[in-house]
Amino acid sequence: MTDKNRVLIFDTTLRDGEQSPGATMSHDEKLEIAALLDEMGVDIIEAGFPIASEGDFAAVSEIAGLAKSATICGLARANFKDIDRCWEAVKHAKSPRIHTFIGTSPQHRAIPNLSMDEMADRIHDTVTHARNLCDNVQWSPMDATRTEWDYLRRVVEIAIKAGATTINIPDTVGYTAPRESADLIRRLIAEVPGADEVVFATHCHNDLGMATANALAAVEGGARQIECTINGLGERAGNTALEEVVMAIRVRGDIMPFTTGIDTTKIMHISRRVSTVSGFNVQPNKAIVGKNAFAHESGIHQDGMLKSADTFEIMRPEDVGLAGTSLPLGKHSGRAALRAKLKDLGFDMVDNQLNDLFVRFKALADRKKEVFDDDLIALVTDAAAAD
Ligand code: KIV
Ligand code: ZN
Repeated sequence: MTDKNRVLIFDTTLRDGEQSPGATMSHDEKLEIAALLDEMGVDIIEAGFPIASEGDFAAVSEIAGLAKSATICGLARANFKDIDRCWEAVKHAKSPRIHTFIGTSPQHRAIPNLSMDEMADRIHDTVTHARNLCDNVQWSPMDATRTEWDYLRRVVEIAIKAGATTINIPDTVGYTAPRESADLIRRLIAEVPGADEVVFATHCHNDLGMATANALAAVEGGARQIECTINGLGERAGNTALEEVVMAIRVRGDIMPFTTGIDTTKIMHISRRVSTVSGFNVQPNKAIVGKNAFAHESGIHQDGMLKSADTFEIMRPEDVGLAGTSLPLGKHSGRAALRAKLKDLGFDMVDNQLNDLFVRFKALADRKKEVFDDDLIALVTDAAAAD
């Protein structure tokens, strides 16, 4: 990659996202989402965990055969059996990747009951094995942000020497904070021999609501791959949301001079499809893709928006694939929005008609959360009958 400011987008909706309790997707649904990710310009799709089940293996393998431009990646634990199974699944892809990981923090080292030296040897052997199969190998020290600095530096160096081409630094339990996230990547790049030969990635979870901020901070620190999911789907509080990091980079290019290859106009459609197939509703006030992200109800905001969109919007709804801003009518709405809506519905009101209707509208809005087009038409008809 020649552009040093190009950030690779690695989507793990089909792997980490699907690990959310209750988010299981069918084989065909996974193929559909993978095709949408490929079309929207995602650089790497983590399609699943091939050893986890026959179904996961079949999905990763079929996605590998179908992908047009994305690299297709499968996940494998740090053992030869997982890595071989992963390679079997991804090897038909035009561009395959093996992603292998092991938990390196004190909390995670306790589980396989390996000493630090034994774990270091395991990392060397498994990354070497993966690299003998595939020339695109990603390695992750799981729970990197709670791993002792000296040990993290040591194992990252081992993985690079063994042939890893991407080093992912996961904040597995959403524990880090933006300054620390940036410093960790910066320090690894500065101090680990061979670091300039590989791509550093950031993989953040949202337990403290900082996944997007931490991922962007890691990019400031030198990471050039963001791991993320559509709608932030993922274990517990979820992962970094693809739509958030991509739009943040696009909207704030003045302070974050980075680029991605994502066609942002495809965001809304894939967000809705992932919500439907995973059964996870998107909260209305979710950044970028929530129902209210481009909706304005209060009088002051609606009046501002009718005069100029930049009063209350920092990006255009069309840029994320929405038809436009919406100005839902409710009890906070003012005359300007009511007049505009009536005009859309074909009613051109003179001032005293509008004043009368506004009183009726407010009375109705006090009883209803939202006043819809049919409600307005009924109000106009009633008002005309009363004249
Ligand atoms: O959160 C995490 O540490 C992971 C790894 C498997 C990369 O998902
Ligand atoms: Zn994760």
